[in-house]
Amino acid sequence: MRISVIGCGYLGAVHAASMAHLGHEVVGVDVDERKVALLARGEAPFFEPGLPELLTEVGATGRLTFTTDIAEAAGATVHFVCVGTPQKKGEHAADLRYVDAAVEALLPHLRPGDVVVGKSTVPVGTAERIAEQVAAAQPEAVTVWNPEFLREGFAVEDTLHPDRIVYGLPEGDAGRVAKEALDAVYATPISENIPVVVTDLATAQLVKVAANSFLATKISFINAMAELCEATGADVTELADAIGYDARIGRRFLNAGLGFGGGCLPKDIRAFMARAGELGADQALSFLREVDSINMRRRVRTVDLVREVCDGSIVGRRVAVLGAAFKPNSDDIRDSPALSVAAQMGLQGAHVVVTDPEARANAERLWPDLRYAATPEEAAKDADVVLLATEWQQYRDLDPEAFGEVVKHKVVVDGRNALDPVKWRAAGWVYRALGRP
Ligand code: UDX
Repeated sequence: MRISVIGCGYLGAVHAASMAHLGHEVVGVDVDERKVALLARGEAPFFEPGLPELLTEVGATGRLTFTTDIAEAAGATVHFVCVGTPQKKGEHAADLRYVDAAVEALLPHLRPGDVVVGKSTVPVGTAERIAEQVAAAQPEAVTVWNPEFLREGFAVEDTLHPDRIVYGLPEGDAGRVAKEALDAVYATPISENIPVVVTDLATAQLVKVAANSFLATKISFINAMAELCEATGADVTELADAIGYDARIGRRFLNAGLGFGGGCLPKDIRAFMARAGELGADQALSFLREVDSINMRRRVRTVDLVREVCDGSIVGRRVAVLGAAFKPNSDDIRDSPALSVAAQMGLQGAHVVVTDPEARANAERLWPDLRYAATPEEAAKDADVVLLATEWQQYRDLDPEAFGEVVKHKVVVDGRNALDPVKWRAAGWVYRALGRP
């Protein structure tokens, strides 16, 4: 198949490379010249495990090209729209300007039989609106929705081995033609033994936000339990283990701590609420307001806990923050709980030094007023307190004995419940965590 992928961010770049890996001829299109130049040289413009290797592998085949010129999408039959849908400034709704611009730029290049495939996470109703635009520009082109569920840090793995594939199709012949095209795109091995849910456009758009809302709810549920644990002296990690053994509940996404961040969960639940309001169904999602506020409360609680271990004031205290990315194995700092807490402590007068193995450069651009260090040891030099904010494996693996040599006071706040309290206490540390005694 000849495929175009419009938008080469975390989603599009991985999708383009993965489609080329499957044997398709792919052109990736992005307005960002720097990103296109890097990708064209086979370099990943962001940190994503496995992506550099994949780019090298498919680069050698000549099946993958990148361009800023959308006219080069004209040779493709299937066009994936993979641009971002960030939160609007000062509002909860999704900002659709990139989706609209991508579609508008693509319209003049559509040919009969082309399939426009939406992958971006959008407010339900967007696909129908795009379908109208596409039909007006090229009556023999079809619009479908095919949401993407990849997690950053596992994006290549999730794209090549998804849990399920969802097709949102229009009715009738157009839907049948589009299904054939998608089946050809995802021909084995990718779709082998993987459920394919074939549904309508509205359901396909809802699947993505419903899944992310559920995941966010699960995290906020366990963080609400952490608040109860803090009030009672119980241990939220043992509680999560115990309820997680019930297969109906499951242990995954029950890790209490600093809460969720990133480019998806926070803005998706807000955009979903905003869309529900427009549809007159705001009551149905009012619980998500609580999910959001439980999540934001964790950040406040973390700053309070650091203050507590500093005997009531963080002014002038040296705080080492381990982690800036919103989660490990990523350099993404969008809505990062780690940086949000670091910035808060900085604003409140603490002397904050942040370290992160991959996200430091991004963090420095966004928060130039914070101080940064290359290693945890450098960040923690003479620290009054160490805060683990992103659970990178190298931070989990720190030797509390040796690490204790560099700090001023051996006090650690585990914002991700990722360290072994027994080991750290045995090495003479005061160990504090969220939701644990
Ligand atoms: C998420 C969805 O998982 C993915 O399916 C969707 O396509 C995009 O949004 P992502 O944002 O990459 O993926 O990260 P994810 O692994 O879901 O983590 C999101 C946030 O939740 C992180 O900040 C993480 O630290 C936090 N989290 C996750 C918890 O606090 N506790 C958990 O138990 C799990």
